[in-house]
Amino acid sequence: MGLEEALRRFFVFLSERRDLKEWVTRNGWMRRVARRFVAGETRQEALDVAARLNAQGMAATLNLLGERTARAEEARAAAAAYRELLSEIRRRQLLADIAVKLTQLGLDLSWELAEESLREICAHARHLGGFVWMDMEASRYVEPTLHLYRGLRASGYGPEVVGLALQAYLYRSEQDLEELLRLGARVRLVKGAYAEPSRVAYPRKVEVDRAYVRLMERLLQDGRQPAIATHDERILGHALRFAKAHGILPDGFEFQMLYGVRRDLQAWIVREGYRLRVYVPFGPDWYPYFMRRLAERPANVGFLLRSLVREGRVPEGFGRSSGVE
Ligand code: FDA
Repeated sequence: MGLEEALRRFFVFLSERRDLKEWVTRNGWMRRVARRFVAGETRQEALDVAARLNAQGMAATLNLLGERTARAEEARAAAAAYRELLSEIRRRQLLADIAVKLTQLGLDLSWELAEESLREICAHARHLGGFVWMDMEASRYVEPTLHLYRGLRASGYGPEVVGLALQAYLYRSEQDLEELLRLGARVRLVKGAYAEPSRVAYPRKVEVDRAYVRLMERLLQDGRQPAIATHDERILGHALRFAKAHGILPDGFEFQMLYGVRRDLQAWIVREGYRLRVYVPFGPDWYPYFMRRLAERPANVGFLLRSLVREGRVPEGFGRSSGVE
């Protein structure tokens, strides 16, 4: 295993450590560093970021950070917060939708609770003309997520109201994609951000990238307004060439990227006339999300260390490597 892979696994491991979470989220310096990837702790801050992105020609997906909720009241509060968020998006006429995690809506506690919350959010979105993305979490939640999605579709929530993420690193995704294409689902294709065993997911990055390209081509050809969610330049270039070669127009799909990641590439996509949506997370529960972003790119750890140097906490010269982008 190379250093990069070891670091990646280490940060994914840290992202799951609830004991560290308390310490890190109370630490003022960590909070400031996390702001690079997180819009803020309040709904207002997130909506303001969405408005700024809209002004730059980018759409937004707002996500209230939180996952694996341990208490039913918290899950209900998250569902209520999402409904209010949809109302505020509508009130401010923002080009924005929302993304939810099922474990945040109580999936670990009770199936009924998560289902009821998700349905309430989707009903509110439908009423307001909004849209809900279902994020995809660790592999044990894939089947429940697909099941809930099918249930929503069976009760009349169409692809104009709800869509879901699919992770290229899972072996099963190839088959899942075929089913979702048959359903006319709106799919956001991602590489996958969790630590998965090789029994369920490709262990090597090169294999994940190859799987991503295969699924992306399939999705671009037959998907419904698919979302190509990656910062991988080579894959992006491939998507553009593939779309051109197959007569797929720029408004037939969209790129999606994370807030604070590859802002240069985000601006380029918009300048070139392609659609871009930025995933904007916010809220006090930012620890696991932040750790997963560090896991994705060791240079981000350099970014973290450099900001420590700026604050005079470690000796000069430590951690002065390449830029975060
Ligand atoms: P990869 O990790 O190969 O990175 C390619 C290049 O992008 C890097 O070389 C670097 O230049 C840049 N880059 C990537 N990540 C960076 C970072 N954190 N900081 C700085 N530069 C970075 N996952 C999941 O499991 N379930 C989900 O529901 C979602 N949802 C989601 C929505 C959206 C809009 C995006 C963009 C991503 C997700 N993800 C996700 C996360 C996804 O699975 C994946 O972990 C990240 O997108 C990173 O992978 P890339 O495709 O960017 O490629």
